[in-house]
Amino acid sequence: MNVKNLVRKNILNLNPYTSARDIYESDKGILLDANENSWGSTFTGIEGVRLNRYPDPHQKDLRKLVSGLNSVPEKNLFFGVGSDEIIDLLIRIFCEPGKDNVLIPEPTYGMYKVACDINNVETINVLLNDNFQVDLPEVENNLKDNTKLIFLCSPNNPTGNLLAKEDVLTLCSKFNSVIVVDEAYIDFAEDGSLIDEIKNYPNLVVLRTFSKAWGLAGIRLGYCIANEEIINILFKVKAPYNINTLTRFALESAARNSNLKNEYIGGIIKERERLKNLLESLAGVIKVYSSDANFLLVKLNNAKEVQKKLADKGIIVRDRSTQPKLENCLRISVGNKEENDLLWEAIKKIV
Ligand SMILES: Cc1ncc(COP(=O)(O)O)c(C=O)c1O
Repeated sequence: MNVKNLVRKNILNLNPYTSARDIYESDKGILLDANENSWGSTFTGIEGVRLNRYPDPHQKDLRKLVSGLNSVPEKNLFFGVGSDEIIDLLIRIFCEPGKDNVLIPEPTYGMYKVACDINNVETINVLLNDNFQVDLPEVENNLKDNTKLIFLCSPNNPTGNLLAKEDVLTLCSKFNSVIVVDEAYIDFAEDGSLIDEIKNYPNLVVLRTFSKAWGLAGIRLGYCIANEEIINILFKVKAPYNINTLTRFALESAARNSNLKNEYIGGIIKERERLKNLLESLAGVIKVYSSDANFLLVKLNNAKEVQKKLADKGIIVRDRSTQPKLENCLRISVGNKEENDLLWEAIKKIV
């Protein structure tokens, strides 16, 4: 398939913003081209960080770093202000407002639909099956000619399960749409990532984020791995300087600490299973779903009331009851050991 055929015509024909530094391929020398402050910056807080200059629009250092972390070629990487920015960019690249549509198997992460609504792009909502896997016949029956994107989430938020790889690859090979697989929580699963399949499927986009396992939600950094053609179009449409210098600096520093990330993952998985066992022992808990993520989906008799009573004790959890197939379900993030103990003490008295 030729992915370019799915791109909006105005985006294909777009002349992106360029700077003089692009033309001369240099950000060194006497830089008098971008109306920056050559005298210096009012921020002097971090040695070696120059904030008076615009960041690199080509994301070269980030690509090199993350290519090394993930064994993915640099040319297949693009960075966004959180993966939420990439979700929005993909919709804007492929979907003509008021004309094209996006298919979203639910229940899943709510931002896919919100981003479509903001862009005036219709969503087709189909249900995941009872095991929260993609219902292939249901997808096929609901797909239209102008379905440009299908959003999948694996492990899925809020159900916590990985999607079957074969199903995702069937969608990629069978349909003339871009298949986006959001792997925000993949670090908490044993395997199941689809990044190795990028080279086989030109219409597959995998989303990742530093907001979860890396503990960097505050720097707003996400990325995607995709065929070079899609990556190049993302570069065309993004704001020129989307990733700021402090974010890049924070990631470089965090990458030197990747053993800490691995410790967090190990600890969170252990706590997830401990909490699951504890919750399952309560008579008022109907089901704790297996999770490959850093949260648990818990079915109760009265989720709304439990959420309220926990909030009264200062513990905030998410009620997902309004989502299809999730009646009376709370989504509870796995906290640190102390937080989980406090949750347990509170919830066992409430439920
Ligand atoms: C499935 C999923 N994707 C993406 C995000 C947002 O990621 P980011 O912080 O990189 O924008 C979240 C946040 O909760 C999420 O659950």
